[in-house]
Order: sequence, then C-alpha cells, then structure tokens
Amino acid sequence: MILKKSNPVDYDVLDIVKKRWSPRAFAQKDISKDDILTMLEAARWTASAFNEQPWRFIVAVKDDSQKYTKLLNCLREGNQGWAANAPVLMLAIAKKTFSNTHGENKIARYDLGQAVSALVLQATELNIYSHQMAGIYADKAKEAYNLADDYEAVTAIALGYLGDIEQLPDDLQAKEKSERIRKSIAEITIETDL
Ligand SMILES: Cc1cc2nc3c(=O)[nH]c(=O)nc-3n(C[C@H](O)[C@H](O)[C@H](O)COP(=O)(O)O)c2cc1C
Repeated sequence: MILKKSNPVDYDVLDIVKKRWSPRAFAQKDISKDDILTMLEAARWTASAFNEQPWRFIVAVKDDSQKYTKLLNCLREGNQGWAANAPVLMLAIAKKTFSNTHGENKIARYDLGQAVSALVLQATELNIYSHQMAGIYADKAKEAYNLADDYEAVTAIALGYLGDIEQLPDDLQAKEKSERIRKSIAEITIETDL
C-alpha cells in the first residue's frame, strides 16, 4: 500500500507545502542525476547571513554501494533500518566559520536548515519525498569524510519516491499511518494582533 498523506490546512498554502511529509517507505526507483542536481540548485539559491552560504552536502546514491554504505553507517541504527530503502542519502553539513574573517558563524545551522528546506520543497515539486534525520553520528561522519574542524554534520536526508509501507516492520507501519499533528497558529505566535 502506497500511503498518500495530506494535511488539513486552515489557509490555502502552496501545493508543495501541503504535499510534503516524511515517509519511511521508499520505492526501489532511482532518482535521476538531473533531479538530484535540481534539488541541490534549490539549496544553492537560499538566502544566508552575509551570503556566506555555509551549507555543504554529501550525496550518496544507492547504485554506488560503497559510498552509500559509508553514509548509511553515519546514521543512528533506528534510522538506518528504514533509510536503507532510499535511493539517495545526503548529509547536511554546516560550515561554522565565516570565510572572510574566520570568525564564528553563529547562524550557520539556521542557514543550513533553510537550504535543506528549499531542497526538500524542490524535491516535493519533483514528486520526490524526503525524510530528514537528526539521528546521525556526527563524529563518525567527521572522521569518515575527513571534515575540517569548523564543519559539522548536522542532519541526514533520505530521498526517494513513495514506496509500499508493507516493506516496513509493524511499528513503523503504524507510525506511517499516524495522523499528522501541528500546533495551531495561536500556539506558535507569541504576540500578534491578528
Ligand atoms: C531536523 C529534523 C530532524 C529529524 N530527525 C529525525 C530522525 O532522526 N528520525 C526520524 O525518523 N525522523 C526525524 N525527523 C522527521 C520528523 O519526525 C518529522 O518531520 C515530523 O514528525 C513531522 O512530520 P512530517 O515531516 O511528515 O510533516 C526529523 C525532522 C527534522 C526536520
């Protein structure tokens, strides 16, 4: 069964915002090189403080099993199980210093998050679904990819087309079927005249 999830929006937002959700079941279908580059292009054009563009990505495709396994091993075990179905895995990395001054860029992770947001919305437009993960071994990634001291692996992203949820164990199938819940606008606005 391919699950189609939707969210009951109160205001009519962009289709890609309505359509995006984070699945754990992916189809055994590759993502084309062009589509991977299109997603990265969307990330590239994100705004950032001082236009530092502190986002970096490591991209592994399932066809290249050695590189794919290397990235998969940087995920926490709970994520590895289902993420191993995704045709593409990425690590999202923040460069935590400014290139000009070499001073600390305290906003680097914020900018990285924005870039990932653009990437996953572009993915949605291409009918590609994404599942972001904080459950990674950042130290392992640092060592495996020989990252410089001021680079930090912050999240991973599994990307692919929706797959049959029956490929998942029962507990994860239940999670997939669970209702999507959000705070109300009143709960996320601290002060407003609306
Ligand atoms: C930064 C970030 C980290 C996340 N980490 C994990 C993770 O390690 N494992 C996991 O299964 N889901 C993870 N998620 C997925 C969230 O649980 C999911 O986005 C949230 O429940 C909302 O569901 P939706 O994306 O389907 O709207 C993460 C999402 C984000 C944005």
